[in-house]
Amino acid sequence: MVRVTVPATSANMGSGYDSIGIALELYNVIDLEESDRIDISDKNGQFVPKDARNLIYQCAKRVYDECGKPLSGLRIVEDCAIPQTRGLGSSSACTVAGILGANALLGDPLDRQAVIDLAATIEGHPDNSTPAILGGFCVALLENGHVHQVRVPMHSAIDFIVFIPDFKLSTEKARAALPKTIAHHDAVYNLARAALLAGSLTTGQLENLDVATGDCLHQPYRFGLIENGEDVVRGAKELGALGAYISGAGPSIVAMVYKGDRDYLSRAQAMCAEKYPHWKAVQLRCDEVGATVKRI
Ligand code: HSE
Repeated sequence: MVRVTVPATSANMGSGYDSIGIALELYNVIDLEESDRIDISDKNGQFVPKDARNLIYQCAKRVYDECGKPLSGLRIVEDCAIPQTRGLGSSSACTVAGILGANALLGDPLDRQAVIDLAATIEGHPDNSTPAILGGFCVALLENGHVHQVRVPMHSAIDFIVFIPDFKLSTEKARAALPKTIAHHDAVYNLARAALLAGSLTTGQLENLDVATGDCLHQPYRFGLIENGEDVVRGAKELGALGAYISGAGPSIVAMVYKGDRDYLSRAQAMCAEKYPHWKAVQLRCDEVGATVKRI
């Protein structure tokens, strides 16, 4: 049996729509072994399909198919801490788990880049799947089945406070809210900020983060789908965040804060308790390791 551990991810980071993401220290832990049937169970009560519609199974089967290997079934045990449909990369984590698990069971026919390419091709969001595999802060784009990616060193002075609501928002719905085309000046607005974001997170010029997380490609269209989303972003900044943005397609909100600001989490929790009872605030550090596979 193999155990695959995959981190949560926060894509876009404001300006880096569909191209920038970070891994966070919250994990799905998936055990897989070959079996004569499909046998799927989960340890913590999240809804997961228990048949061939299961995403982890489908991704594992895809690896077997691409390698020309027959698969009669899999035993999969899921222990998933990443909340589903909250913009924290839960489906990317399951996609990566299925691919890496199958790859390990087959003796590692796919190299790291092939895993990155397949995960993005299946999942469609290289800004989630790439940091889920590599860990850290990544820039990634998918073109013709290949992910061009770089894992960028991130300055160590940043912590992430994640505001997670008790309601869901599907990626399909959040993408359907976006316009088909945008104005030239909106494109320039975002590309300048995405470049500033990558440079500032690397060098530690954290005073740039508020401007650098600015965005006019997706967040303005998505806030209407996230009750109190704009209020939480504004409140997070008023509490002293360096920048705050919708995580992935939402609805979670991420605040970047100084590591030295030790009271930020309790201030954020107090704000939620007082004003936004459908939200909770948790601290998640950047995961620097990425997905791991071990035999158990
Ligand atoms: N970049 C994608 C989006 C992430 O914002 O729709 C989806 O998880």
